[in-house]
Amino acid sequence: MNASSTSAPILSVSQLTKAFRGLKALQDVDLNLFPDTIHGVIGPNGAGKTTLFNCLTGQIIPTSGTITFKGKDITKLRAPAIAQLGIARTFQNIRLFGTMTVLENVLVAQQLRTRFNFFEVIGNIGSFRRKEKALTEAALAHLDTFGLIGDAYRQATSLSYGTQRRLEIARALATGPSLLLLDEPAAGMNASETDTLHQMILDVQKRFQLTIVLVEHDMRLVMGLCDQITVLSYGKVLAEGKPESIRQNTQVIESYLGVSKKRKANANPPPATI
Ligand SMILES: Nc1ncnc2c1ncn2[C@@H]1O[C@H](COP(=O)(O)OP(=O)(O)O)[C@@H](O)[C@H]1O
Ligand SMILES: [Mg+2]
Repeated sequence: MNASSTSAPILSVSQLTKAFRGLKALQDVDLNLFPDTIHGVIGPNGAGKTTLFNCLTGQIIPTSGTITFKGKDITKLRAPAIAQLGIARTFQNIRLFGTMTVLENVLVAQQLRTRFNFFEVIGNIGSFRRKEKALTEAALAHLDTFGLIGDAYRQATSLSYGTQRRLEIARALATGPSLLLLDEPAAGMNASETDTLHQMILDVQKRFQLTIVLVEHDMRLVMGLCDQITVLSYGKVLAEGKPESIRQNTQVIESYLGVSKKRKANANPPPATI
């Protein structure tokens, strides 16, 4: 973790707006992600965090604004093209291929990098088999680095919740990304699973030389891991800074703590809470 605004950003978001039938889920958002840093995005439910990830990964196309990744305008690219350029994500609600094994989940993700040529397959089945064997070996080695080798032939949904979350990250990294977006990875985890996740995020960042964006409500995790934090509220950037300055920012405190206090006393709670 060497947050450095002297190097060029790996990803820049400029004046990003996404409107859903009049509702501006994101409004004029500016964001710069610097290489090899962990960047937190926090904000109450409904603030636009997942929408931001959906725009960055091409799951939805922004209404206006631009997204530049490694100097290339990716604003209007679709998800498969963006994944191939090196942006991977996990989802707020786990989205593993449930009926597949742990190994197959990783193999599918690897296909993004090493697509078989159909004619190569029918023309030279021997070469295909050798490649398939090499891919399986690579996937098993990948699983080993995540402590998942013993689960390789189990069905993904038979794993514990924390382990499924780990597999989701392993699968995302099997695509060979340089930018990893984690959407509430600690949601639903107990304290010891969260501690394991904390260490794992640090380990994978080093091992895979990643830039990471972490959307998370667990403030201990966010404050402990992030070099820089952006606070979203109702689709707009409310504040940005280092963890210590965000922690002391009165606007941020009011936006969170004020809202959650009101919520308890209010029969018709506002949608926002952390
Ligand atoms: N596909 C969609 N269609 C319509 N509204 C959406 C859609 N996705 C998100 N929204 C709305 O956009 C706002 C931001 O949602 P979201 O990005 O999921 O927030 P967060 O992840 O910060 O909780 C919410 O008001 C949500 O209801
Ligand atoms: Mg969300």
